[in-house]
Order: sequence, then C-alpha cells, then structure tokens
Amino acid sequence: MAGSDQQHWNQRYLAGEFGFREVDPFVMEAHKNYLQPLLRENSSSGADTGLDLAGGAGHHAVWLAQQGWRMTLADWSEPALEIAREKAAADRLTLDIQQGAALDVVSRYAGSGHRLGFVLVSFFLDRAVLPWLAKILVPGGLLLYRTYTEDNERLGNPRGPRNPEHLLRSQELLEIYRDMKILHYNETVLQKGVAELIAQQTETDPKKMETDR
Ligand SMILES: C[S@@+](CC[C@H](N)C(=O)[O-])C[C@H]1O[C@@H](n2cnc3c(N)ncnc32)[C@H](O)[C@@H]1O
Repeated sequence: MAGSDQQHWNQRYLAGEFGFREVDPFVMEAHKNYLQPLLRENSSSGADTGLDLAGGAGHHAVWLAQQGWRMTLADWSEPALEIAREKAAADRLTLDIQQGAALDVVSRYAGSGHRLGFVLVSFFLDRAVLPWLAKILVPGGLLLYRTYTEDNERLGNPRGPRNPEHLLRSQELLEIYRDMKILHYNETVLQKGVAELIAQQTETDPKKMETDR
C-alpha cells in the first residue's frame, strides 16, 4: 500500500500536477513572528537548522534556506526532490535533501541525537510520525504543522485527501502536543477544514524527551 501511494505521488509530480509553488502565507507569517526571532536568539546546537518533512518539491525549504536557515528537505518522492535539487542549484543554495519515508527520517533524527531548530509539516499526515516531532527539536525549538481536518471532507472541498488516516480530528494536534507551549492554533471550517499549530519545545532535558511518550 505504501509503495502504491508513493508511486501515486511520483506520478503527480511527473505529470506536473504538483511542483514548485508559492510559499504559503502561513509559513511566511510563522517565520516573521516566531522563526526569525528564534534564529537570532536560540544558541543551542542545531538551533539554526530546520526540517521540511514531506516537503515535496521544496518551495518552503528553498524559501526558508534563503531566510538563513540550514534546511533539510525530506520527502519520499524522488521526482519531487529532483525539482528541489534543480531549484536549489539555480539559486546557488545549499539544501540537504533526504529521500525516504517520513517515519524513517524522523526516527533517524531521534536515534542520532541530532536536534533541529524547527520542523515544518505542511499538508501531510502520518499519525505514527506525530509523537516523534516534539522529540527531535532543540529546547525552545518550534513545530509548525498545517494540514486538512475531517471537516474538509464534510465540506466537500474537492482538494485534499479522503482517507481519514490522512485527516486530523478536531483539536487532535492540541492533544498530541499538550506538553509543548502552544503559540498559535487555528482550525478553519469555512470553505475547507484546515488545522494549523505552532508549538514550542519547552523541555530542556533530552533524556526526558526520549521517554515521555
Ligand atoms: C500534499 S503534498 C505537500 C507537499 C508540501 N509539504 C506542501 O505543503 O506543498 C504531500 C507530500 O507528502 C509526500 N509524502 C506522502 N506520504 C509520505 C511519506 N509517508 N513519507 C514521506 N513523504 C510522503 C508526498 O510525496 C508529497 O510530496
């Protein structure tokens, strides 16, 4: 099943259905209000690094690298990553590009002890990944999460997944990240159901972060 999903995404990128796009206003606002100050203030090792998980063709990773972050872009679709490689080369940007399933990527980070200043997840949900995201942040590091909720299907928005496995339940992110400091949370149910969260890792003891869930 995972293999067919991955092929489906590869085909969408090869067909040009998905590609390098405009930066989402949510990411720009989050950068202005929360990420930029963090880049200046947080001196923990790794605090200037960011991960765009399931970041597709890299429009967010490239823009964030341009803002001064040392960015990693991870996605399982090689055609998507090829678009990102070309864009980064054309802009003479250094981008760490990792091809792989999101769960493998985050568990590698957790295992290596390498911690990140922030993780961005935009329009992707694999519930097995969620608990890991808080654990791979430096103290003070930020999680930026934005994706569709179950309301999206109820509202009949033609965009977005139909499979409940890829749709957030109402308030689900707040529940999962209840030990983090919530800086921003919003759930829209106007024309589409989308939840967005910005949360900060406040735990300073890495050992506790390993075992708390
Ligand atoms: C809707 S796109 C979002 C891309 C980008 N984050 C954005 O906001 O435009 C979903 C992305 O998730 C990737 N993806 C889906 N399941 C994945 C998984 N299990 N591991 C890694 N990437 C995955 C797809 O290849 C695709 O690039």
